Amino acid sequence: MTDKLRYGVVGCGHLGRVHAEKLASVPNAILAGVFDIIPEKTNATAEKNSCRACASIEELLSLVDAVSIVVPTEVHHQEAVRAFSAGKHCLVEKPIASTVADAEEICTLARAKNLKLQVGHIERFNPISEGFKLLPEQPRFIEGHRLSQFSARGLGVAVILELMIHDIDLILAHVKAPVREVRASAVAVISDMPDIANARIEFANGTVANLTASRISVQKMRKLRFFARDNYLSLDLLNKTGEHFLLAPLKESARPGYLPALQHEATGRKIMFRQLSYPDYDMLTAEISSFVDCIINDTAVRISGEDATAALSLAKRIEQTAMENLNRIFS
Ligand SMILES: NC(=O)c1ccc[n+]([C@@H]2O[C@H](COP(=O)([O-])OP(=O)(O)OC[C@H]3O[C@@H](n4cnc5c(N)ncnc54)[C@H](O)[C@@H]3O)[C@@H](O)[C@H]2O)c1
Repeated sequence: MTDKLRYGVVGCGHLGRVHAEKLASVPNAILAGVFDIIPEKTNATAEKNSCRACASIEELLSLVDAVSIVVPTEVHHQEAVRAFSAGKHCLVEKPIASTVADAEEICTLARAKNLKLQVGHIERFNPISEGFKLLPEQPRFIEGHRLSQFSARGLGVAVILELMIHDIDLILAHVKAPVREVRASAVAVISDMPDIANARIEFANGTVANLTASRISVQKMRKLRFFARDNYLSLDLLNKTGEHFLLAPLKESARPGYLPALQHEATGRKIMFRQLSYPDYDMLTAEISSFVDCIINDTAVRISGEDATAALSLAKRIEQTAMENLNRIFS
């Protein structure tokens, strides 16, 4: 394989166009071509990014080593199977597929063909990932809020698969225990699917995660907070900032970078804290670059098909529980 990977984008909608644009900043790849079932979208994206406007998916696959699959979730499976069968590495947007069975089939095919499969759980490339290194060994309680303003795109799936799945993936990457119990409720407001959902996920090690997602919020918010026995980590994934609080014995000397927050003579305890701030960068460019480098160097991808299938499986379990308790504003 030459140093520069020949890359293609399948689907030139809202996010596919962005994938195509970001390729210009990916050092080890060139955008060879794009394809959308709507020729006008193919042509506009190809013209803007100076690459081949492919008239068919077969034409695109014949030109490239790897593709981003950025089509509606319902056709991720169909297009991933097609690309793997043609021997191409795939970056499949999240969620990996509509069903766990389809996701498992995609993973099995990628393994059988010895091709790289990465899934677009982009938050793993958030600069705030550095903050996750401060995570307590075993958080007792995790609180997540992911609120977005309304957009007509994505309404075909519940907010759990559209938004909450990002936090589900992040939490599964950090809590190394099986899920014991799921409780969930949801409200369908503007669409017929849950637009607001809350899930309480209890893990076998005792960790509890309480996640809320909404796609009809006035304000955007992406926050995760981790509570442990002797420390508390609050991360703002949108603004790339956070706070880390540590509980320590009163007599413990100051820690570099931490300021005193409060102290209590009677219990002999004190709390220290540190403000966190991480330099921003383009997360999608980082995600595609990482995928390309894994192909070139034959290393493991950051978000495997198996990780994404686990996130999908839990999201589906939450969705099913939420649907049983679905409250509709209009019925
Ligand atoms: N990682 C993230 O944060 C994130 C954000 C937004 C969307 N997404 C995911 O990206 C995917 C696409 O979302 P979008 O917002 O760009 O949707 P979109 O509807 O704007 O675009 C989808 C495009 O795919 C085209 N298409 C449909 N079937 C096709 C096929 N078989 N072959 C080629 N093109 C086809 C459509 O014509 C359309 O242009 C979805 O799976 C979504 O969940 C991920």
